Amino acid sequence: METLIKNKKALVGIIGLGYVGLPIAVKIAQKGMKVMGFDINAKRAAQVNRGYSYIDDVTRAELKAVTAKKRLVATTNFNGLKKCDIILICVPTPVDKNKEPDLEPVLNSTYAVQKRLRKGQLIILKSTTYPETTEGKILPILQETGLKVGKDFYLAFCPERIDPGNKKFTVINTPTVIGGVTAKCTRLAALFYRNFVSPVCSVSSPRIAEMTKLLENTFRNVNIALINEFAQLCERMGNIDIWEVIDAASTKPFGFMPFYPGPGVGGHCIPIDPYYLSWKAREYDFHTVFIELSARVNEDMPYFVVNKTIDVLSAAGVCPGKAKVLLLGMAFKRNIGDLRDSPALKVFEIMQKRIKTVRYNDPHVPKLYLHGKTIRSVPCTARHLKKYDLVVILTNHSAYDYDMIAKHSRLIIDTRGVIKKKLRKVKKLGAG
Ligand SMILES: NC(=O)c1ccc[n+]([C@@H]2O[C@H](COP(=O)([O-])OP(=O)(O)OC[C@H]3O[C@@H](n4cnc5c(N)ncnc54)[C@H](O)[C@@H]3O)[C@@H](O)[C@H]2O)c1
Repeated sequence: METLIKNKKALVGIIGLGYVGLPIAVKIAQKGMKVMGFDINAKRAAQVNRGYSYIDDVTRAELKAVTAKKRLVATTNFNGLKKCDIILICVPTPVDKNKEPDLEPVLNSTYAVQKRLRKGQLIILKSTTYPETTEGKILPILQETGLKVGKDFYLAFCPERIDPGNKKFTVINTPTVIGGVTAKCTRLAALFYRNFVSPVCSVSSPRIAEMTKLLENTFRNVNIALINEFAQLCERMGNIDIWEVIDAASTKPFGFMPFYPGPGVGGHCIPIDPYYLSWKAREYDFHTVFIELSARVNEDMPYFVVNKTIDVLSAAGVCPGKAKVLLLGMAFKRNIGDLRDSPALKVFEIMQKRIKTVRYNDPHVPKLYLHGKTIRSVPCTARHLKKYDLVVILTNHSAYDYDMIAKHSRLIIDTRGVIKKKLRKVKKLGAG
């Protein structure tokens, strides 16, 4: 196996070709290794084979370059897993409607591997999950085959840190953390990763790697909640601008790192992963108070933004029941089109119940589906902006011309601190 990995001759299987799986598949293929992608979504598999990228971080040219040479081939037929020397599991780990972990995609993938497990394979779980999933859930399923970990096959957890839309830190230059079930599992997984990522940080067990990922995401969730609470306080006080406060605090060269307020948190990680930890903690009679509290503050933000919209309209003499509002940005973060758990969608949903006409624009989201209806992005031009009583900036995409938006809108609520000019018609979140 060492020789296969060192010579880049190992065949790599990737289960789940989404925001995590597809960029990794492409990077590994670019480094000269052969990759087979497996997905239950036949449309996605066909798109990959055609060189059509549905993920913002992978360009069509990049994808085409590796699919044309058959360095990356996608399929819905999982029998090919038997041929793979290394298998990465990159499937979703959502929560159910009671916010409890739903491991079904991970377990289904594990059973798909179990059926084809053979001597010498290295399995790496990448999906974010609670501590002890790798050893307590995945390992027993794989060992049902009679094969022994560390001797016949190898198993490790390696959390994914990809930050979609981030041009500076990508799959290949973001350090990665690896924890194998045995020392040999860790060593082989690290050897494989060094082929395309640097640096690699090995830890003593999968549990440490699983908890590391949850610490990173919970840290963000809690700090965003803290700054959202500060923003709400600044609004209540009425004469302190949170954005100026953050800029001033950021001049401290140690002990402070800036987080920014906004309409809430979204995506497949920050609002979900902490629930995996709080669920696991209850098994130990432990209540993760910070996680619950930060969820409460962050999940309240879309309501806060809608209430602010109603207040600003009313103060301007516009009756919300007759008002026209345009929302700018539906994706949960800048420069991508990912709508999963987007707080902007929540704002849209709540606002529709309280304001006569609500429309949206997002250069990355040409259409969306809300309550069974297809809604299309409307233009964001000088002529169109003038038609609305108020514009709410929800996602700070860099494609927007904020000077033009400020010039042609009648009233603006800026939840991202992007309008730098001090204008009476601009009401910033956290600035009274
Ligand atoms: N999106 C991110 O920014 C990010 C960052 C770090 C970690 N993660 C974690 O990575 C994991 C994957 O997230 P994602 O954003 O790539 O999800 P995604 O929804 O973008 O992609 C998941 C893919 O897996 C496929 N899939 C689902 N069940 C499957 C199965 N049983 N077999 C094969 N394919 C299956 C889906 O069709 C989809 O194409 C999650 O655990 C997530 O928390 C995500």
